[in-house]
Formats: sequence, C-alpha cells, structure tokens
Amino acid sequence: MTPQLALIVSRFLFDSAALGLWGASFYLSTCVHYDLTSYIEPRLHRWRIAAVALLCATTIVSLPLQAAAIGDGWLDAVSPTVLDAVLFSTNNGTAWLAQIGLVLCLAVSWLVEPRKRLYVHTLCAGLLLATLSITGHAAMNDAGLRTLHRLNDVAHVLCGGAWLGALVPVILLLRLLGDARWQEKARKALMRFSTIGHLAVAAVVISGATNTLLVVGDLPTDWSQPYQLLLGVKIILVSAMIVLALVNRYVLVPRLASTSAPALLKRLTWFEIALGLSVVGLVAVFGTLAPTA
Ligand code: HEM
Repeated sequence: MTPQLALIVSRFLFDSAALGLWGASFYLSTCVHYDLTSYIEPRLHRWRIAAVALLCATTIVSLPLQAAAIGDGWLDAVSPTVLDAVLFSTNNGTAWLAQIGLVLCLAVSWLVEPRKRLYVHTLCAGLLLATLSITGHAAMNDAGLRTLHRLNDVAHVLCGGAWLGALVPVILLLRLLGDARWQEKARKALMRFSTIGHLAVAAVVISGATNTLLVVGDLPTDWSQPYQLLLGVKIILVSAMIVLALVNRYVLVPRLASTSAPALLKRLTWFEIALGLSVVGLVAVFGTLAPTA
C-alpha cells in the first residue's frame, strides 16, 4: 500500500468517526429527552468506544503518514527531519497538534459521568471536524476569502455530521415507537430530528455548492478532471440521500401505524447511512487531489 492510499483510508476513518460521534452526540444532547437518552446510551456504548478509538488511532498515524506522503515514501514516516518539517511548517502540522489535544480529551472522557461525557463528545468531535478546514483547499485562497472559505468548510462538515451522525440514534428511537414506556418521548425526538434534519440538509447543500464554486470556480462538469468527477459523483449520491430522506419523512413516517412501514423505514435509514459513508469515502479521496490538473 502506498503512503497516499494509507492516508486516504485514514482520512475516511477519521472523517466517518468524527461525523458520527458529533452528529449522534449533538442530537442526543439537544433533541432527545434526558431519560430517553440515558435509556438508549448503553446501546450506543460500543459505537462510542469504536469512534473514539478510531479517532485516536487515525490521529496518531496521520502525522507519519503525511510525512511519508509528502516525503519520499515510507522511510520518511520515521524521519525526524521530515516529521519536524510537516509538524512545524505545514497546515497539516497545525491541525495535527489541535487534533492530538482533542483526542486526548476524548480518551479521558470516560472518567466523567455519562451526561458530562455526552457534552465532551459533542464539543470535541465538533472541534475535530472544524480542524479539517485548516487542511482543506480553503488554504488556496487569499487571506480574507480564506477565512470565509474555512468558516464555510466548518459549517459544511458540522451540518453534514448533524444529518449523517444522528441517523444511528434515530434507528434506535424507531425501535422504541412500539414500546409504550417510551413511545411519546421517542415520537417527539423523531419530530425534532425531522426539523433539524431539514435545516442540516439545506445548509450542507448550500455550503457544499459554495465550496464547489470556491474550489472549482464553476459546476464540476469537466469529468476528465478526477477531482470534478469524484465531486460530481458525490453530488449525485447526496441527491439520492435527499430523495431517500424525503420518502422516509413524507411517505413512511405518516404510515408508521401500518405493519410494514416501521421495518421499511429502518432499512431505508440504514441505506441512507451507507450512501453517506460512500459520500465521505469520495471526499476522503478528492480532498487530496488538485481541483484542476
Ligand atoms: C451528506 C452530505 C455531505 C457530507 C457528509 C459531506 C462531507 C464533507 C466532508 C467531511 C468534507 C471535508 C473533507 C476534508 O477536508 O477532509 C467535505 C468537503 C467538501 N464537500 Fe461535502 N459533504 C456533503 C455534501 C456535499 C454537497 C451536496 C456538495 C456539493 C454541492 C459538497 C461539496 C464539497 C466540497 C467542494 C468540499 C471541499 C473539498 C476540498 O477541500 O477540496 N459536499 N464534505
């Protein structure tokens, strides 16, 4: 495996874990009743540990991977000179220092009680996503525009995560619609997801289109350019996710009393998650490419 490919795999795992941890924690800490959150948290425990472990591992390896990818291959992954240069003279180094501090907070978050841990996860995962703006293509722009582009990047990943990351707790809540103890609280939490979901989808599309115009300068129609091809495929997949989300919300949710709708809704929500992970996979690749060859 080349250092470049290893770096793409590490970016994909980092982005997926950060989007998932931020989105689930933000949704549970803002939209779900405390009792219900405490009831479903044990079912999310292994997901949380896996997400935090992935964030720790991918952050630790990302610096040597950057060194190997920027340098002359795997040997530079352990070269003190190249590591020093990447750490102290590149945006990747600045982002890495912030990421190491944040994943350390996540690693020790198990020392605090569950409610506080939820807030620590929300804050740290949100800030980890924000560090992506330090290394993205926003750096190509001049000072003023660079700041605006980075703020747009931050809004983009937080809204993408608020949509995608909330889908796992949503599936758990769908299962509780048949449980008389939790039915009312679960229904309220799902309606709140529907509200923030509409806002998050609108914001991720607007910020994505802004990103596209700032990076490509036009619609990504030149598919001879790998960056534009992959971005174009990403936009098609996100369009499919939006159609799926609308079918879930306006066709299946009103029919939840029927026998087949709840099971179909759960299956389509898992499919929405799978499409979302493919979207993150695409951006993990094209984020490392030059927008125009
Ligand atoms: C579910 C919806 C979406 C998710 C989860 C998502 C996720 C992401 C992530 C994680 C990044 C940052 C990657 C990094 O810097 O490592 C990113 C960047 C980007 N996204 Fe999205 N995105 C979504 C929708 C869209 C849409 C609809 C568009 C276009 C209309 C778009 C266009 C872009 C562009 C142009 C970048 C900048 C990449 C660069 O720096 O070169 N995204 N997206």
